Amino acid sequence: MGDRTARLIFDDREIVLPIVEGVEGNHGFDISRLRADTGYVTLDYGFANTAGTSSAVSFVDGTAGELRYRGYPIEQLAAKSTFLEVAYLLFHGEMPTPEQLKTYTASITHHTLLNEEMKRLFDAFPKSAHPMAILASATNAMATFYPDFHNPRDPYAVEQSALRLVAKLPTVAALAYKKSIGQPYIYPRNDLDYAANFLHMMFALPVEEYQVDPVVARALDVLLILHADHEQNCSTSTVRLAGSSQANLFTSVAAGMSALWGPLHGGANQEVVETLERIHADGGNTAKWVAKAKDPNDPYRLPGFGHRVYRNYDPRAKILKSFAYEVIERMGANDPLLDIALKLEETALADDYFVSRRLYPNVDFYSGLMFQALGFPVHMFTVLFAIGRLPGWVAQWKEMSEDEENKIGRPRQIYTGHPKRDLP
Ligand code: CMC
Repeated sequence: MGDRTARLIFDDREIVLPIVEGVEGNHGFDISRLRADTGYVTLDYGFANTAGTSSAVSFVDGTAGELRYRGYPIEQLAAKSTFLEVAYLLFHGEMPTPEQLKTYTASITHHTLLNEEMKRLFDAFPKSAHPMAILASATNAMATFYPDFHNPRDPYAVEQSALRLVAKLPTVAALAYKKSIGQPYIYPRNDLDYAANFLHMMFALPVEEYQVDPVVARALDVLLILHADHEQNCSTSTVRLAGSSQANLFTSVAAGMSALWGPLHGGANQEVVETLERIHADGGNTAKWVAKAKDPNDPYRLPGFGHRVYRNYDPRAKILKSFAYEVIERMGANDPLLDIALKLEETALADDYFVSRRLYPNVDFYSGLMFQALGFPVHMFTVLFAIGRLPGWVAQWKEMSEDEENKIGRPRQIYTGHPKRDLP
């Protein structure tokens, strides 16, 4: 905490508020004693102006359009690192040494199998079940297999839970997918790296050999890196809020997955591709959809556009756009949707409505197209986001559990209902 203070003057009172300094701007007024000292609370729908915590995990400069994990720019991590290195970085705070990476990778690889009993859980869902529902349920169910790892104050339990989650989530996701298409489950393979193993579990069949294309595996790995953390977004805040009650890591992460599923958050990647398909079927008239998004009488919003923090191009979307053509060409897909996406972006960014509100493409605008080019069906897109975001959820949950300032999350309200009254 710095020495600067702010003064709040109301009625005939003056309250001094300490100022908490961030290392990259985003300083804050510390109002933690406000209610005790004045009887007043603050009101901030959507927490748009409220920091629920201090954090050292990731940083977004929304004006410059920059994202960093533990200080490292996302562009450098996407170019030079792997998803498991990033997962390690987020959890431990530093990049692994070659020896640490070897040990970490071996631990992940050796925990990819699910307990066989878990399979019965998958069988209980209808074939039409959305895989996000299965993912969150299976993650919660995992807690029942590791009752010894529930104590958030036990560093060994936390590390082991984190390891199992990162190792097993692709297995859960692939099983959910195989179930939805009626194919046999494919077991993990320890000779493949993280992304290649996931692709194999997704697309292999027991009756023939399936070769993982290393370019596809690398593209998937980069996509996962780009999703790995993003400050106190909706799902991460949910993970923290659940965990603030000292709920175990598995169940806190499952809560975050439920938050991610919504179309305003991770569900947007699915909405983007569905919108592009609609525009394509409709003759490619992007102006019509931009007009719909602008219409004040229509609640419709252009999916993949806008962001609470970015007032500039989302750096993740920039990276994705730059290699979307390469990946789509490599996959031999002549994807008309990419052209429509580019045209839609051009139409929106030439429109004063989007310019004046500084609404730019966000990560979900191009990620769905990439996932589709890699062979993933639309209903798996948000699941891929979840696999990518997992290291961030885990790192943020750990940071919260270790923070001595941490309290159970329990916002106040401003009551607007009936005053006290009596039943007749
Ligand atoms: N299309 C049309 N108008 C929009 C859009 C959009 N996609 N996004 C924001 N606006 C307008 C909004 O109507 C408001 O206009 P006005 O000032 O006239 O009322 C203004 O821009 C500011 O929007 P806001 O609702 O105050 O912004 P927010 O920070 O509450 O919402 C958002 C952020 C991401 C939920 C929103 O931009 C949105 O709904 N986007 C579409 C869904 C989407 O792409 N979500 C993915 C987010 S990024 C990755 C992730 O978190 O998963």
